[in-house]
Amino acid sequence: MSQRSRNLPRRSCLSTPGSSDRFLAKAPTAAADFSFLDLEDSVAPSEKVAARAKVVNAVRALDWDERVLCVRVNAWDTPWTYGDVIEVVGQAGPRLDEVMLPKVRRASDVVALDLLLTQVERNAGLEVGHVGIEAQIETAEGLNNVEEICAASPRLESIVFGPADFAASIGMPVTTIDETIHQGPSTPFTYVLAKILMAGRANGLHVIDGPFLKVRDLGALRFAASVAAAYGYDGKWALTPDQAQVLNEVFSPSQELFDKSYAILDAYERATEVEGMGAVMFGDEMIDEASAKIAHSFVARGERAGMRRGAGA
Ligand code: GLV
Ligand code: MG
Repeated sequence: MSQRSRNLPRRSCLSTPGSSDRFLAKAPTAAADFSFLDLEDSVAPSEKVAARAKVVNAVRALDWDERVLCVRVNAWDTPWTYGDVIEVVGQAGPRLDEVMLPKVRRASDVVALDLLLTQVERNAGLEVGHVGIEAQIETAEGLNNVEEICAASPRLESIVFGPADFAASIGMPVTTIDETIHQGPSTPFTYVLAKILMAGRANGLHVIDGPFLKVRDLGALRFAASVAAAYGYDGKWALTPDQAQVLNEVFSPSQELFDKSYAILDAYERATEVEGMGAVMFGDEMIDEASAKIAHSFVARGERAGMRRGAGA
């Protein structure tokens, strides 16, 4: 796994088609935590091979500041995967943090990528293990195997839900991915989101929700993103810079929650270390070690996103 990117935030994960010089040039100007340059579904088959050199050039020539930088290669059931990895990882240099593998069906898909990356890194003079992996779950088979997939390689940094391909895989009667997939008494995605979250967290991975296709409706995006955020997801894909801005807000704790979490940590420390008590009152709430763990996760999330205690005062 890439040590540089491992602990960076991924609230907004901006997708950019690797075949478009214009979109590639614009991508670093968007306020996104994470950028991935796509060689898969946003690139036409006739452009797949030519897009590799454009992506290499964009990684090397543009200023990507601190954000996590990733390339999405084509899936193993296409003719392009190995060429994508050899050409892009072999030539992009150390700024490339991760490779995203779409349509992962089983652990061996990730293991195969890990082995290929090791050879490519050696030949390119990169440290072995430098390039991390993101695995996309977007089929029923991938979901069934998500636990072994999440444990398949130490390079794994994130597990990512791909709702559009997934809806096709399970025969869901929808033509787009919008806020309605989260409405109604029960939706298949309730189970899917929870299952991916558990498998990712059990293996210490970032857990990311996929795209929202009605790109002009930012209010509806906010709702859908809030559903994933309420589960505990770390972030979601953005297809436009405007979507990225909404996601940065939705996946950051509010200043009020951030400050309260710090206050809980202080109160818990005082209770355990000065007063010798494991559970105490904090306002009208009882807090104990589990409350401190929750508070700690909000503080860590907020700090990763650049928040400071009391900054709203
Ligand atoms: C993303 O790749 C999706 O299929 O939703
Ligand atoms: Mg997909």
